[in-house]
Amino acid sequence: MKKIAVLTGGGDCPGLNAVIRAVYKTARINGIEVYGVKNGFKGLVEDDMYLLDADYVSGILPRGGTILGTTNRDNPFHYQCIENGAAVFKDMSQQVLFNLKQKEIEALIVIGGDGTLKIACDIANLGFPIVGIPKTIDNDLPKTERTFGFDTAVSIATEALDRLHTTAESHHRVMVLEVMGRYAGWIALHSGIAGGADSIIIPEIPFKWESIADKIKLRQQKGSLFSVIVAAEGAIPIDGELSIAKIVNSSPDKIRLGGIGDKIACELEKRLAVECRSTVLGHLQRGGSPTAYDRVLATRYGEAAVNAILYKKFKTMVALQNNKIVLVKLTDVVGSPYLVSVTHDLIKTGRALGISFGD
Ligand code: F6P
Repeated sequence: MKKIAVLTGGGDCPGLNAVIRAVYKTARINGIEVYGVKNGFKGLVEDDMYLLDADYVSGILPRGGTILGTTNRDNPFHYQCIENGAAVFKDMSQQVLFNLKQKEIEALIVIGGDGTLKIACDIANLGFPIVGIPKTIDNDLPKTERTFGFDTAVSIATEALDRLHTTAESHHRVMVLEVMGRYAGWIALHSGIAGGADSIIIPEIPFKWESIADKIKLRQQKGSLFSVIVAAEGAIPIDGELSIAKIVNSSPDKIRLGGIGDKIACELEKRLAVECRSTVLGHLQRGGSPTAYDRVLATRYGEAAVNAILYKKFKTMVALQNNKIVLVKLTDVVGSPYLVSVTHDLIKTGRALGISFGD
């Protein structure tokens, strides 16, 4: 094994650069050169890759984003090309294999979430050696206890809840924090517990407006004139629908979620004599420096992915199980998101502490 490549696909998240650095360092110590692929699969189709050297990876461990760039739009199997001024979609997967062969790249490390890893799996099915690394702030990938980026997102959401607490208390208001997570409630659940939220509203537990209002009334009766609620962007009222900010047809993830925080604040104001406000945390959860936990996990994943290549364990993904790094089959990871179980320990803990889940 002389040359490998690494790419980052899908939405960015804190820790991507820490993985790239670990991949580079481990590979170089084993005499392997590493190509960085620019902008996810787009760089593979368009042959936009460059040899990484020490200068590229120097100082990137704490840096947010990805030095390689990323995109969540480009799928080589359904790739947008312009012909005679019109957009047409083509299967460019053979071009990808050709570009990799031309550069004598023998294996590819793909760092991504479910969408990116599904494409990685399809390329692996064409016979190209691939190892995946689980990335997403949502923590919604199966077969691993943690995706890197999640811990940082939870820390940021927790800090936001701490800050909302003090202003909620001063003004005797209800503050609703809307966090990311797509159809999984992991960020809301963990930050809600860490940040002492009074209600945690997640997609896995459809909620009733009255239940959330009742929790606030109960607190008021006990003399607490303020409340803090954390709501996952994918949360759904039992009698209502998903909150969609926009439909983006050009994106593989056509549904852009958003708006549930505002809806909760509005509905509560109708039911309670208290001012209710909402804050959308948005991409603050994805930007900036990774926590120490995410740096460690990202580094372990990067090192383990290169080792998997050295041992020719392809069509796999590195994963965390019982705090050990293991390899799982890439085919077992794609297509079935890891959601919060209603019997999860943290839900039980929350209920035991009197936190409302809106059900
Ligand atoms: O999957 C990560 C994530 O940040 C989700 O939590 C969120 O719904 C989505 O990506 C937002 O993606 P974009 O930045 O493309 O709108």
